[in-house]
Amino acid sequence: MATLLPQIYCPIVTDIQTVRDAYDNVAVIYAARFQHLLDSKPLDRAMLAAFAELVQADGARPVADLGCGPGRLTSHLLSLGLDTFGVDLSPEMIRLARQTNPAVRFSEGSMDELDICDGTLGGVLAWYSIIHTPPQRLPGQFAEFYRVLGRDGHVLLAFQAADEPNTMQPFDHKVAPGYRWSPGRITELLHQAGFDVTARLVREAEEGERTQHAYLLATKRVS
Ligand SMILES: C[S@@+](CC[C@H](N)C(=O)[O-])C[C@H]1O[C@@H](n2cnc3c(N)ncnc32)[C@H](O)[C@@H]1O
Repeated sequence: MATLLPQIYCPIVTDIQTVRDAYDNVAVIYAARFQHLLDSKPLDRAMLAAFAELVQADGARPVADLGCGPGRLTSHLLSLGLDTFGVDLSPEMIRLARQTNPAVRFSEGSMDELDICDGTLGGVLAWYSIIHTPPQRLPGQFAEFYRVLGRDGHVLLAFQAADEPNTMQPFDHKVAPGYRWSPGRITELLHQAGFDVTARLVREAEEGERTQHAYLLATKRVS
């Protein structure tokens, strides 16, 4: 039994620590490099605007920016009028996010186990943050999104897309081990977690990118 334990438990701890340490190391460079990226991404802004409008139409409840990094998306959602806070694994990312938005609540934490009460949110944004989640942990994270969202709550995901249908492909992400998912497979997993996907956008790789990028908007299903 003792020999089985490391195989069962170690990978999860190691994955989280690897991702946290990797983003701690690059946080300052990452923040500077991507600070103004949204300005040149009209399709990203379109999906974010639709998400913000839907959350506002359903009562303008708080929105969690999960895997917020240095808070560039948190800032954008605030500018769209949403009551937003951020959560990230990396203490260094959280320090930078607080520096940029001193009035906003940012906390260290993991999407695997959120320190957020049941049914309290109007929206969850996971913008290129599920890309480091090993496949076996993704259903658990989607279950957490479902738990913290209130009735008719919305999720918006962005991620690098796999080029095969219904698959997950590991890829050599520059910061930490990454996974590319097909939009179809993520749609299935969201459905299993209790969400209906209401819109999907797949755009071609742009300059400096190696893959298509996918954006999925989903709503918590009323059971
Ligand atoms: C590619 S960066 C994206 C940051 C931000 N969303 C943006 O677009 O600028 C991925 C971020 O997700 C965070 N992250 C990865 N796995 C996480 C988890 N399980 N819980 C919370 N944050 C996580 C990382 O620490 C990192 O800051």
